[in-house]
Amino acid sequence: MCGIVGYTGKDQAAPILLDGLQKLEYRGYDSAGLAVRDGKALAEVVKATGKLYHLADKTDQGRALKGNCGIGHTRWATHGDPSTVNAHPHVSGNCTGSGSGKVESDVAGVHNGIIENFAELKEKLLRHGYAFYSDTDTEVVVKLVDYYYKKYKIGPVDAITRTMVRVRGSYALALMFKDYPDEIFAARKDSPLIIGTAEDASFLASDVPAILKYTRSVYYIDNLQVARVSPGQVKFYDLNGDEVTLNQTEITWDAAAAEKGGFEHFMLKEIHEQPAAVRDTLNSLVKNGKIDLAETGLTDDMIRSLTQIDIVACGSAWHVGMAAQYVIEELAQLPVRVELASEFRYRNLPLSESTLVIVISQSGETADSLAALRVARERGAKTLAVVNVIGSTIAREADHVLYTLAGPEIAVATTKAYSAQLIAMDLLAVQMAFVRGTVSADAYAHDLEELSLIPEKIRRILEDKERLQWFASKIANAHDIFFIGRGLDYAISLEGSLKMKEISYIHSEAYAAGELKHGTISLIENNTLVIGVLTQSRLYEKTVSNMMECKSRGAYLMGLTTNGNFSVEDSVNFTVYIPKTDEHFVASLAVVPLQLLGYYTSVSRGLDVDKPRNLAKSVTVE
Ligand code: AGP
Repeated sequence: MCGIVGYTGKDQAAPILLDGLQKLEYRGYDSAGLAVRDGKALAEVVKATGKLYHLADKTDQGRALKGNCGIGHTRWATHGDPSTVNAHPHVSGNCTGSGSGKVESDVAGVHNGIIENFAELKEKLLRHGYAFYSDTDTEVVVKLVDYYYKKYKIGPVDAITRTMVRVRGSYALALMFKDYPDEIFAARKDSPLIIGTAEDASFLASDVPAILKYTRSVYYIDNLQVARVSPGQVKFYDLNGDEVTLNQTEITWDAAAAEKGGFEHFMLKEIHEQPAAVRDTLNSLVKNGKIDLAETGLTDDMIRSLTQIDIVACGSAWHVGMAAQYVIEELAQLPVRVELASEFRYRNLPLSESTLVIVISQSGETADSLAALRVARERGAKTLAVVNVIGSTIAREADHVLYTLAGPEIAVATTKAYSAQLIAMDLLAVQMAFVRGTVSADAYAHDLEELSLIPEKIRRILEDKERLQWFASKIANAHDIFFIGRGLDYAISLEGSLKMKEISYIHSEAYAAGELKHGTISLIENNTLVIGVLTQSRLYEKTVSNMMECKSRGAYLMGLTTNGNFSVEDSVNFTVYIPKTDEHFVASLAVVPLQLLGYYTSVSRGLDVDKPRNLAKSVTVE
């Protein structure tokens, strides 16, 4: 998604803005730009397509842009192709060429989100004499602010609130006005935006890493609020233009946590942080040998009253839901539906107050998951958010929140957040089972003991990476890779396949092993790689049989199973073993070799592991 930064203070703005944009690169982008002003009428705008270093080179690492107030942007194209003219910032005046250089305009702005009714607004502005130089919805919204600002001769806050009433869609906006030389105005609806303050300086950004170097004191501006940002001070307003008060939050992350810590890529670092992420999440929920959900607000009576659970998420978070479904159904004997958020939001699923909708999201800002949460609440269901980013929108809008403690996750391909979500859902399943009386006190204690051993078992898997690194180099030129499994192994296959394809760009599919023969097996050719996940003992033989069906058609087989199942070596070409654990919780272990396999395959192919093409860390648009 796009990244926004802003700075106003006593120092030169451009280098600070570039530094912030660099910390937001993980969000995915195809162009970038800055607008900086030095207290005069003009804003100097510089834009560049491609990687951020092109923009830095054009501005001598920002030193060539004078001025202590500015905004910056990394663009992930939605409306208009990736080009300099479409890159932000956009201005209210007209521009020739790429829109760079000293521009005479009353308003300049950057935007993360999508303005859904931009076409009708553009028509309106054209009728009022505006001309457009780009294909973007952002230029429309900047010009609309300018229109209201001039038509009603009102201040920036009122011009922005009028605009907010008129537009439909999502936005995090940062705007500069010619008549307000050291101030930045911001507005938010659904897209993330934070505002930080330090002595004599203020900062805006789409995410914490961009400003962590300068301040830990941040405001999470709420939906449909406007901020007036000046050096060291912020005022907030509601849609009526009335001033409102927001509390400041102290960020507890340390800057190192957002850096690579000696690893080649953030992804490898975060894979290695999984023992800690799982341990910290466990420790936050298990106290004195018991699972304590008090901080979530979920009471035993509420748990006992449930008749249905709907887990709603996207991507890897949805895969967590697919795994949790088996665990909750088996332990707590509660019916569980797992829905893609982008589907759930448009379906008319029967929900009731005895339904618990669990929205899982690392970022807490995924547009589809946020929309699904709102639909669930409108339909009267109880909602629980399982999120990793404190203060994120999904966390703030759900009835109940369960925070995972994975820390900041920078790589686009999630690993430690996925694992933290998994263990959180396992704990939830065990607690629900105990409260509903479907497991005994001994079984409860056994499950907690098994879960407490997961971090150390993950650590042991991470000690034996070389075989996976070698195997990855062997499969780096594969055209298709199939991951198959049954039950929980199918859910694990889903995540293994996504990890592989999203960072190695090799086509991959996850399939319920029993389903292959209903069509997809026609794709198996000589040397097609089929990876069978074999951790569920009662389904083991069945899946091995399915793998044999593939082998008889030429497939090359890798088996992923638990220590002791050595018989698998009679059937497959390459075997990966993981430590034994209670089979309900094995996904936390089985996923680790598959993460490493995807990682090393991507590295073997010389790809940008942390920032894969076309992807964003948080998909904050529909
Ligand atoms: C997973 O590696 C991807 N980055 C993606 O599927 C991600 O899990 C999905 O977009 C959901 O993001 P969220 O957890 O922040 O809602």
